[in-house]
Order: sequence, then C-alpha cells, then structure tokens
Amino acid sequence: MKRTKIAVLVSGGGTNLQAILDASARGELPHAEIALVLSNHKKAYALERAAAAGVPTAVVTKKQAGSQAAFEAAMMAELVKYGIEMIVMAGFMSILTRDFTDQWTERMINIHPSLLPAFGGEGCYGLHVHEMALSRGVKVTGATVHFVNEIPDGGKIIAQKAVNVEPGDTPERLQRRVMEQAEWIILPQAVEQVAAELAHREDDLNV
Ligand code: GAR
Repeated sequence: MKRTKIAVLVSGGGTNLQAILDASARGELPHAEIALVLSNHKKAYALERAAAAGVPTAVVTKKQAGSQAAFEAAMMAELVKYGIEMIVMAGFMSILTRDFTDQWTERMINIHPSLLPAFGGEGCYGLHVHEMALSRGVKVTGATVHFVNEIPDGGKIIAQKAVNVEPGDTPERLQRRVMEQAEWIILPQAVEQVAAELAHREDDLNV
C-alpha cells in the first residue's frame, strides 16, 4: 500500500504534532508516513517531540534566510530533499505567499482553533483566537482543518468540531478544551483522510 510522505510544519509546543505521532504509533494513519518535522524556530519544543519519535527534523528561519522568498525557497529545498508529498501545518505561525501555496494545492492542510470563517485571517492565531471568541461572547467555538491557499485561513474546509464555551472560561482554559475535545481528534483524522486520497490518486496513476 502506498503511504503519502508528510512534513509537519511547527513553530512552538507541538501538541498537535504529538497527536499525529501518537495516532500514527497506534496504527491509525495507515496511509501517512511522517517523514519530516520542519520548524521556523530553533527552540520549538515540537522539535524534541519529533526527535523522541525518531522523525527527522529541519529548521528554517526567516531571519537566517533574509527574505520571504528566500525563506520559502529554503523550506522548499528541505521538502524536496525528503521527498515530501503533503504538508500539515500544526501550529505553524508564519504566513506563506501564493508562490509557495500554489505548489501545494490540495496537498497542504492547517489546523485552526475556531469554527472558520469565524475568528480567522491574519492576526488570528494561538491564544488570540480564544481571546476574540470570549470577548465576542460566543457560546460555541471549536476547531477547523482546512486546505491552505493564498488567503490566510481561507481554503476549503475539510473537518470541524464544535466545543462549548463554559461560564468562567479564560482564554487558556478554552484553548485547552478546544485542543482536547477538537484539535487533537480532527487533525489526525484529516491527515489520514487526505493522505489516503493522495495515495489512491498515485495508485490510479500507476495502473
Ligand atoms: C493550536 O491551538 C493551533 O490550532 C493554533 O496554534 C496552536 C498550536 O499549538 N494554530 C493557529 O492559531 C494557526 N493560525 P501546538 O503547537 O501545541 O500544536
């Protein structure tokens, strides 16, 4: 059976990466091979999670690259080096331009901590998203997995899961509940779904 080679892009703690690695270890991602974890921060704890799971890592920073174009070219070079066929953005806090996203149409997915299109777009990331949801007074929030295109958080939606806001929630408490009840569940499922679609497409081409 063909397995799709996947790079997970990270910037920080990497709990979503961990959910993918754990699902893979449990045999729940039969069509996905986690072949690379790529970070845009040298000190991202996600890199340690990858190393502990025996997954190769790479670091590409915008500062070192010097420009957005050079940053994206350096990322692309790593992806090519590892034969990557699909990208998963799991807490990757850098916006990529159309030059990059056009090369990964329907092969790059992202997890976002709200029910898009609510609380999405530039500036909506991490804890800020939950602060916005609480200050707006929503009673239900959640998480979304979507394809990535040139519009931040604007690509076609693959999966969503709703999570209740509880009285007395802080952004941190809400963030944790959204991760536990939505992100860590729907992201590995979406990874397998898209990886399987890509693997089957390859099989069809090879018939
Ligand atoms: C997650 O909540 C993820 O949905 C969010 O950042 C957090 C990363 O946590 N992503 C975004 O806001 C992207 N716009 P993690 O590093 O522990 O997976």
